[in-house]
Amino acid sequence: MSKTGALDLASGLGGKLEKNEVLSAVEKYEKYHVCYGGEEEERKANYTDMVNKYYDLVTSFYEFGWGESFHFAPRWKGESLRESIKRHEHFLALQLDLKPGYKVLDVGCGIGGPLREIARFSYTSVTGLNNNEYQISRGKELNRVAKVDRTCDFVKAEIEIGDGLPDIRMTGKCLEALKQAGFEVIWEKDLAENSPLPWYLPLDKSHFSLSSFRLTALGRFITKNMVKALEFIRLAPKGSQRVQDFLEKAAEGLVEGGKKEIFTPMYFFLARKPLSATE
Ligand SMILES: C[S@@+](CC[C@H](N)C(=O)[O-])C[C@H]1O[C@@H](n2cnc3c(N)ncnc32)[C@H](O)[C@@H]1O
Repeated sequence: MSKTGALDLASGLGGKLEKNEVLSAVEKYEKYHVCYGGEEEERKANYTDMVNKYYDLVTSFYEFGWGESFHFAPRWKGESLRESIKRHEHFLALQLDLKPGYKVLDVGCGIGGPLREIARFSYTSVTGLNNNEYQISRGKELNRVAKVDRTCDFVKAEIEIGDGLPDIRMTGKCLEALKQAGFEVIWEKDLAENSPLPWYLPLDKSHFSLSSFRLTALGRFITKNMVKALEFIRLAPKGSQRVQDFLEKAAEGLVEGGKKEIFTPMYFFLARKPLSATE
């Protein structure tokens, strides 16, 4: 079952880390960042460790607030966040022209929310690839619940060790890299540009929504105090509040970046290996 209750949040916090390791993991994660005195070079060199710690620490918060799919989506007026996320997953399946029986690879699959939806939507077998052990074990559990565990699975692997997402790149650079790697780009677009509702709306504290209440200012205030209480009575590990704090900072940064239009989480491209002369 999807872990959406307060106790699920407390028990999942820290992922595969021992509960008494959470606080030191938070400190280590924070120290990778320049604002906590970290060096950019060190952060890049230890990228694998940083990403893993990040997802061990935040996965249960993501699941609690966002659901099983950890991505943004273009959103229409009158559509809930969950509906927009599912519609976006269907859009991806259609863009890939998926047909029943196809075998699909989802690189950077989280706990498999998109993978399960796409597999059910298109009758395909999807394998999720991810470098975080906790996310994979959650994903396998959720696959069993959704009854897609016979056709969908996970592999734990690292994509381009040390060179996955150490930096944020300009969209033009992504396009250039695709072409340099020999892909034919069929179409590309920043889907954030024409989204009727801004992608960052659920995280914007001035916005209120009943359907994504946990993401609103009031919802976040309640979660903050709940985590504080759970940490105090030792149901949540020491360091939990600090995870909530850096996620809060991340949310503020995302909203600001979105409003200034200097950051997008929805640069879409459809690319393929060029067809040979006989194809
Ligand atoms: C923002 S989450 C998105 C998850 C999923 N696509 C979804 O929408 O629910 C990014 C995912 O990429 C994985 N990831 C990041 N860097 C990776 C790397 N170098 N190798 C493998 N997986 C990686 C993370 O563990 C995480 O599961």
